[in-house]
Amino acid sequence: MHERKPFVGGNWKMNTNRTTSADLTRAVVDGLARVEGVEVAVYPPFPYLLAVRSILRDRSSSIRMGAQNAYHRPDGAYTGEISIEMLKDCGATTVLVGHSERRHVIGEQDELINAKVRAVLEAGLECVLCVGETIEEREAGHTDPVNQRQVRAGLADVPGDWVNRLVLAYEPVWAIGTGKTATPDDAQDVHRKLRQLVSGLYGPEIAARTRIIYGGSVKPSNAAELFAQPDIDGGLIGGASLKPEDFVGIVKAAATT
Ligand code: PGA
Repeated sequence: MHERKPFVGGNWKMNTNRTTSADLTRAVVDGLARVEGVEVAVYPPFPYLLAVRSILRDRSSSIRMGAQNAYHRPDGAYTGEISIEMLKDCGATTVLVGHSERRHVIGEQDELINAKVRAVLEAGLECVLCVGETIEEREAGHTDPVNQRQVRAGLADVPGDWVNRLVLAYEPVWAIGTGKTATPDDAQDVHRKLRQLVSGLYGPEIAARTRIIYGGSVKPSNAAELFAQPDIDGGLIGGASLKPEDFVGIVKAAATT
């Protein structure tokens, strides 16, 4: 048992439509109605945020809603971007930053990711900073330096009193959407080292409070074993978050570990 409340996020990525995002929200709310002891957030695509928010409100659900990305500038000529204030206005309370698909498909670099982390935290929202190594980096023995660099760079100039709104997500790139999952021992090893890093940066108390969640092909069948690790405080769920029974099963696994 650790003192951190587990966190499970459902990252819907670029999936669902107006009907299926609403259906999925209702099914998750109903499935989790009696589940306690875990914080849950869903991350729908931008166009469905308002509708998802209104379903969550109508059902008095404690499930939080967040955005998969944000831009760090407050307003202006940034065609196609979405500001943090706009997201707040739509009811988002949490934002994913530095997801591997933003880093490796869209090409976001550490500097931009750091600007986004600072802007999200400064605005008073929760920031889920995602880090993770590619298969080439892992095979070259660079897993730890890559993850440490991404965390250090992401948190550059982030003051300690903002860190209570930070969640770290370790998501090995080779495990995302591939069906391959890090073994609980391998994931625990990375999480433990990331917590040590946070301790070095902000001190042991903040490190002990910071949730570090795992992502990468988490399923109901492997969730309990992963979440039972001492430094794994929940998960960021992609594919399985689109299937209400699977997502509910994963959240229940987090609630009981
Ligand atoms: P996955 O995605 O669960 O489909 O592997 C996880 C993520 O990208 O957050």
